[in-house]
Amino acid sequence: MTTKRRNSILGHAAHTPVGRSMGYDEALFSLAHEYAAEYMEAVSGRRVTPAPEDVEALRNFDEPIPDEPAKPLETLRKLHRFGSPGTMAQTGGRYFGFVNGGLLPEALASRWLIDSWDQNTALEVMSPVGSRLEQVSQKWFVDLLGLPRQTVAGFTNGTSAALLCCLTAARHALLERQGWDVSAQGLHGAPRIRVLGNRHSHAAVLRALQVLGLGTNHFEPLQTDDQGRILLSALPQLDENTLLLTQAGDVNSGSFDPLRELGERAQEANAWMHVDGAFGLWAAASRNTCHLTDGVELANSWSVDAHKTLNGPYECGIALCRERDVLVKALKTDASYFTSGEKRDGMAFTLDMSRRARGAELWATLHTLGRSGVEALVDHLCGMARRLSRTLRELGFVVPNDVVFNQVMVKTSDGSDLGAIMGELQRSGECWCGGSRWLGEPVIRVSICSHATTEADIDRAAAAFDAARRRVVES
Ligand SMILES: Cc1ncc(COP(=O)(O)O)c(C=O)c1O
Repeated sequence: MTTKRRNSILGHAAHTPVGRSMGYDEALFSLAHEYAAEYMEAVSGRRVTPAPEDVEALRNFDEPIPDEPAKPLETLRKLHRFGSPGTMAQTGGRYFGFVNGGLLPEALASRWLIDSWDQNTALEVMSPVGSRLEQVSQKWFVDLLGLPRQTVAGFTNGTSAALLCCLTAARHALLERQGWDVSAQGLHGAPRIRVLGNRHSHAAVLRALQVLGLGTNHFEPLQTDDQGRILLSALPQLDENTLLLTQAGDVNSGSFDPLRELGERAQEANAWMHVDGAFGLWAAASRNTCHLTDGVELANSWSVDAHKTLNGPYECGIALCRERDVLVKALKTDASYFTSGEKRDGMAFTLDMSRRARGAELWATLHTLGRSGVEALVDHLCGMARRLSRTLRELGFVVPNDVVFNQVMVKTSDGSDLGAIMGELQRSGECWCGGSRWLGEPVIRVSICSHATTEADIDRAAAAFDAARRRVVES
């Protein structure tokens, strides 16, 4: 940096927004509130994808870092002017991509308040409220999902991180049984862990194996039926060196592994069973879907998100482990400046140290919904998925999966170009769905994951499928 430029920056230090008390900046927060309200009011009616000119306008962010502080409110104005139109309307009712959850207004409002606290929930001494609300959320969560009472939860930024925590615990326990302390000795010369699992296991599961040194080449994929459920007849003899990876909710078909039978086999053999239930574990919270997770309590660990089915704010994943000491030991870290609280130090259960008060957000979401609200939400998503699959079938599309939860896969029966139909659909802005492959064939996958989706949204989406197919056939 040139001396002239450095002086120019230092010369303006008096105008920088530092060294003043936090206080409440009425103009700033009112403007943020006004913009957020404008966004929320418009989101259900607008096109789901940003218009091409709005994507093009994002180039307004491509500039060198300003030398001088921005004028008050200018940052917000710019963010709203160019940022808001460049979003995907994920909080509206017609975004069906990936498994991206919607957002409950009450959860968002609580997050605004919680964000103003700006707590770091690594240790209890850093945030008594963060620690307490993690503890309460853990209890509610374990209760809602029917997990063993002593189960502990670590609050992560998503299921990928939750998987890492859970599988770190599994690796630790399985090697410890063989007299190997993986924390101290690492994997050099370590005894073998046998890793088996659903052949459709999510990419995040395979990445966890990759990162943990268990190696994707050593993963033994288990045969599944046409819905993607592990075939019990394909399950080999398990033993106490086995890690069994199962799913509650396949990312494409939404199917659930036969958890009771698998759990019983795993327990008999003293194997470690993990259930990846990023969105599907919530089936346990509804009387109409809890048969899908029957036996889930037999596992040793579980990974799930609050930002998918529960419609809490991004980012909130939960790592759950039946044995507290195993998880804590596997993730153990220490430094002379850490001051352990008497109650709950959140960082003992995750790979992060500094973290937002995710437990508080989860508490607020569960408190708002209550047991019946969570059930109604799960039922709503499943009901909307069934409505869409029914309508699409009536329109002549093929839905190759049993719609047991919130996932719908779509194919054509007349051989018309599915990729082209998906492209038309995405460009229409009427709804957004992505593509995938199922049993070797391309599919459009629809994930109904927002409380905001109405019957009218579903019917509009079905009409958009129909129109997209017509345009492709005609062209
Ligand atoms: C079954 C399953 N597992 C894991 C993940 C990864 O979750 P996250 O995106 O929260 O890391 C997903 C994401 O959709 C999923 O559906």
